Amino acid sequence: MPSPLADSVKLPCGLVFPNRLSKAAMAELMAKTNQPNDSLNDAYEQWSQGGWGSILTGNVQVDVDHLGSPFDPALHGEYTGDDKTVVKEWKKYADACQKHGTPALVQICHPGRQSFRPAGRRGFFAQTIAPSEVPMNIGNGLLEQLIACVAWSQPREMTRGDIEKAIRCFVDTARLMADAGFSGVELHGAHGYLIDQFLNSKTNLRTDEYGGTPTKRARFVLDILREIRKVVPPTFAIGIKLNSADHSSSTFEETMTQIALLVDAGIDFMEVSGGSYEDPQMMGYAKSETPKSERTAAREAFFLEFAKEVRQRHPGLVLMLTGGFRSRAGAEAAIRDGACDLVGIGRPAAIDPKFPLLLLDESLDDEKAALPLEKVPTPFYARWLPRNLIGAGAESTYYAGQISRMSRGLATLAPAL
Ligand SMILES: Cc1cc2nc3c(=O)[nH]c(=O)nc-3n(C[C@H](O)[C@H](O)[C@H](O)COP(=O)(O)O)c2cc1C
Repeated sequence: MPSPLADSVKLPCGLVFPNRLSKAAMAELMAKTNQPNDSLNDAYEQWSQGGWGSILTGNVQVDVDHLGSPFDPALHGEYTGDDKTVVKEWKKYADACQKHGTPALVQICHPGRQSFRPAGRRGFFAQTIAPSEVPMNIGNGLLEQLIACVAWSQPREMTRGDIEKAIRCFVDTARLMADAGFSGVELHGAHGYLIDQFLNSKTNLRTDEYGGTPTKRARFVLDILREIRKVVPPTFAIGIKLNSADHSSSTFEETMTQIALLVDAGIDFMEVSGGSYEDPQMMGYAKSETPKSERTAAREAFFLEFAKEVRQRHPGLVLMLTGGFRSRAGAEAAIRDGACDLVGIGRPAAIDPKFPLLLLDESLDDEKAALPLEKVPTPFYARWLPRNLIGAGAESTYYAGQISRMSRGLATLAPAL
């Protein structure tokens, strides 16, 4: 029987993904001048041959003053549609991603308070910007406080002008990506970045029209979505990556309210993830080890139950679930269970750029259609640092290293114990 993973999926904008397997966004850490370059293009050309249904790029920052890492590609100034030189560079990137017909979407992002001091052109001692002045908190111990202080500066509450500028940066970046030939963008609304900071009541303490209720906290992302729609073709996809919330948490219904608003505003798809720099659940490392229910624990996916709840409330919303998928059996179970339409795959894609060809190969039995991965070991000298952060950091660094090897034509290596 053919795998349900081989089915195509059509988005509301009309864009068709030829199958359900999506290469998830992974920051490549290869843009030394914060521009796309040959190394990036070479890596994506490999993924373009991999049989993916869609390719999501690593995060592209919408403002070069505020980067997630010093090596993120970014928008370097206003883009109003008439700068042919900048389009040409991004077009090479779009062409490399889509060389073999797979639609590629650019993940666009603003880190807000999560921008490391050396990341971005605003200067080492300059403040970050955020909805409210809530500093980064990776723990209450002396060491954790010291690390946070060295890594991140104190955020400053964004003025109306800052908010308007940030919205314009998202819109300009989306427009540039459409002009360059990409098939869509994904707003990074997860992992504690700026959009997530607005959505979340812990980081958004505002009392103006951008804060105070779940609906007002969603206004920032809804403004971005509406303004992007005005400048891109109707067939250009706009999706969002969002954090899940625990069913038992007080924020669960608030998150559901915000999702309903995004659905009403016409989002093309929603990717479910979770966590932040302060609590990196997206990498399988959580601050507090809340036990998962047996049902979720028995499966691969990290955020399966939340996705099923969203599906129940919004049966027409195209849902992508990312985090933990390592096998055809696990991915098929999520689709058959009705938890999602698309399966996002991160780390296995950095080891095997053609992972979908393995999963969709009907001649292989389920046992062989898999790429189990060990956790990346942490160096002994780092073991006295916060375990979850070091673990997640080691994973990101390791897999970014594999993407770099891929782009140089070298064999990738799965982590060894
Ligand atoms: C090296 C690396 C870089 C990542 N960069 C991003 C990113 O830029 N944007 C994002 O939304 N998620 C990013 N992630 C998280 C992945 O998209 C994904 O949510 C996570 O790795 C869990 O999926 P997996 O278990 O299939 O790896 C990154 C993960 C890795 C390993």
